[in-house]
Amino acid sequence: MVERYVMSIDQGTTSTRCILFDHSGRLVSVAQREHQQYFPRPGWVEHDAVEIWRNLQRIVPEALSNAGLDPGQISAVGIANQRETTVLWDRRTGVPLGRAIVWQDTRTAPLVEDLRIQPGNEFFLERCCLPPSTYFSAPRIRWLFDHVAGLEQRARDGEVLFGTMESWLIWNLTGGTDGGLHITDATNASRTMLIDIRTLTWDDVLMEFFGVPRAMLPEIRSSAESYGEARTVLPGVRIAAALGDQQAALFGQTCFSPGEAKCTYGTGSFLMMNTGTDLVRSRHGLLTTVAYKIAEQPTVYALEGPIAVTGSLVQWFRDRLGLINSAPEIETLARTVEDNGGCYIVPAFSGLFAPHWRSDARGVIVGLTSYITKGHLARAVLEATAWQTREVVDAMNADSALALKELKVDGGMTSDHLLMQFLADVLDVPVVRPLVAETVSLGAAYAAGLAVGYWPDLAILRRNWHRAAQWLPDMDPERRDWEYECWQRAVQRSLGWIR
Ligand code: G3P
Repeated sequence: MVERYVMSIDQGTTSTRCILFDHSGRLVSVAQREHQQYFPRPGWVEHDAVEIWRNLQRIVPEALSNAGLDPGQISAVGIANQRETTVLWDRRTGVPLGRAIVWQDTRTAPLVEDLRIQPGNEFFLERCCLPPSTYFSAPRIRWLFDHVAGLEQRARDGEVLFGTMESWLIWNLTGGTDGGLHITDATNASRTMLIDIRTLTWDDVLMEFFGVPRAMLPEIRSSAESYGEARTVLPGVRIAAALGDQQAALFGQTCFSPGEAKCTYGTGSFLMMNTGTDLVRSRHGLLTTVAYKIAEQPTVYALEGPIAVTGSLVQWFRDRLGLINSAPEIETLARTVEDNGGCYIVPAFSGLFAPHWRSDARGVIVGLTSYITKGHLARAVLEATAWQTREVVDAMNADSALALKELKVDGGMTSDHLLMQFLADVLDVPVVRPLVAETVSLGAAYAAGLAVGYWPDLAILRRNWHRAAQWLPDMDPERRDWEYECWQRAVQRSLGWIR
């Protein structure tokens, strides 16, 4: 019998990856391409959606040929994607109307600030469970309407389509201008500020508030469901899952029960806890979001603490300051010193996300003395990731009945042992990493495989999860409390920098 596999496409902030998995959840083949980051003005971040689509067209055959497979051996493909990144394109020509505006982009800050201080704005929290922030998609659509002449009218006339990256890729994969499917899934839709998260439908009040016409919005589908067959790149292969990348990581970490949580350490970091079919409203600065929706089954929700800048702080340290040549070198540099020498870096490059939600924050480095070396700065860079996680975990513990007992981690930064040990120290819980660290891709593959019956149920996926590494807390509590206080004072300095 011919062996069959599931393919995942992870369209992330810095690259697009295609990975093939076998039935035991083992990684069989990988192909990856980075795309250009555009920073046209301070606070602006853009991607070229056409470049991303071209990258996908290259990596899919590469991944297949690396493993010596043909498309006929692929049971289904699942897509995970950077969330909130907004792309508009022309329905007739398929050409994007400008570059995609990335989730880190802060150009909508004035609009969001108006919204934040507007009396009666509680209807946002009530309906979409998201605080006013530059992070989400709807303010970006509004910004584009306000800055591109004639765009709003064209959208009203049905000439313009909106999507996050999964919509853009699925539309292209299923035929584009020749009848491509214009769809999104519930997890991605839950990050637009345009749906009622209780019903998973586009919400008239929110749409009217932002002036977004229904004609441009994709159809909302389940995260695991056979949407249709690809017509290009992988002709005849079923596209059977789409999830925001962080929800995909939750799925890949098999956090299927309420109280199970993971944190993915990439460009940013995203801590998410499954809350089951209960929609838990945060009172401490977290987001309520859709964890996943399997076709014909109830919606599963999650609480999430997104942190905008973690891995991208290391990139900044490498590319903009030039203090290291490669990202892994930061650990070596940080190990040249015993501690941070009293120095803290709050990387509020895109304002601060959870639990603060302050678009007016900007990065600060505090505690500088002539004693500080680049080693201390390297330590402060790594520690910023751990302290930001601590703030989110505190909020999570305050919001949910279950205190976090252990944190499942994944993502590129988890190969940094110094950071992982410091994380366990400041959280005071064990930190564990699974054997397959590519949880985003694995989650998208799992969801697609479930939708087409490649895997029968969640229980079999759980059995595929194996622990590869563990870090146990080992820090003097007094030191932890003191350093946390220093961190919190540093955060206060970053707030309100932009007026
Ligand atoms: O919400 C943004 C998030 O989905 C981006 O994730 O891993 O592509 O940086 P990543």
